[in-house]
Amino acid sequence: MAAYVSPIADSATIFKDGLFNGKVLFCTGGGSGICKGMTEAVMHHGANATIVGRKLDRLIASADELAKATGRQCLAVRGDVREPEQLKDAVAKTIEKFGRIDFVICGAAGNFLAPISGLSEKGFKTVIDIDTIGTYNTIKATLPYVRQSKGSYIHVSATLHYKATPYQIHVSAAKAAVDAVSAVLAVEEGPWGIRSNVIAPGPIAGTEGAERLTTKGHDGDGWAQLPVGRLGHIKDIANATVFLFSDAASFITGQVLVVDGGSEHLRSVG
Ligand code: HXC
Repeated sequence: MAAYVSPIADSATIFKDGLFNGKVLFCTGGGSGICKGMTEAVMHHGANATIVGRKLDRLIASADELAKATGRQCLAVRGDVREPEQLKDAVAKTIEKFGRIDFVICGAAGNFLAPISGLSEKGFKTVIDIDTIGTYNTIKATLPYVRQSKGSYIHVSATLHYKATPYQIHVSAAKAAVDAVSAVLAVEEGPWGIRSNVIAPGPIAGTEGAERLTTKGHDGDGWAQLPVGRLGHIKDIANATVFLFSDAASFITGQVLVVDGGSEHLRSVG
């Protein structure tokens, strides 16, 4: 197997060492891509973590890589976010091993490009089930422990629903709902000391979102016109994660942090 190349290595020391010592992260979708990078960043700053996903082999390999890269513990638990009992089991295993949950990343998502005319009812529902109901199920399973720790949630959303994005009706509906769920969580649970925010990544190099789901996935190809002149990197999302979980963000809740190099504001001329 190829050696693990950390996607966050050269940004891992931006924040104070030991920022999250003694904390525990619970992350759905943490076995790969953006959520794996987010998990690595939180672990790098001292937290132990549980990563949950559908593919146990990949999860175990990722947990091993993350533990080696950070010197922290990482527990891999197989679980489908559409199944509340599987999430409750993953939470129970986390409490058994680490004793607490401080941070939750709701990151598990499903996506594919499909026109309305080519998308079955089940296809639409599948993405709502994974992204939206899965987020709700994750909140339900973790909330009693996050109340105890006065912890914090980050939901991974998108920007595609801010305008009408063709072939993405299912994900647009699902992510708009995720944004709404996060805001309600922030308002209802604020008095318990809980914060809830959304990170909305723009085009991030090397991820499925940029490579499989768009027609211009490669750096320098179709993205040179972005305001910052480059694609995003996983470390950009990881740094936003560390900030939002840190006390530096203690007055920030119910917000959507768009991390997209300014692309949401860009309008083509002509
Ligand atoms: C049309 C499709 C389809 C496609 C699946 N379906 N893929 N319809 N075009 N390309 C339909 C199926 O036909 C089926 O409906 C229904 O969806 C369920 O499909 P299954 O494969 O049976 O479900 P499941 O195994 O649960 O698969 C989940 C999945 C799949 C999400 C649908 O695509 C998957 O596992 N993908 C890998 C994970 C993934 O997508 N990661 C991307 C994250 S990136 P019928 O009626 O035919 O039975 C991301 C970024 C968002 O989310 C932002 C982007 C810019």
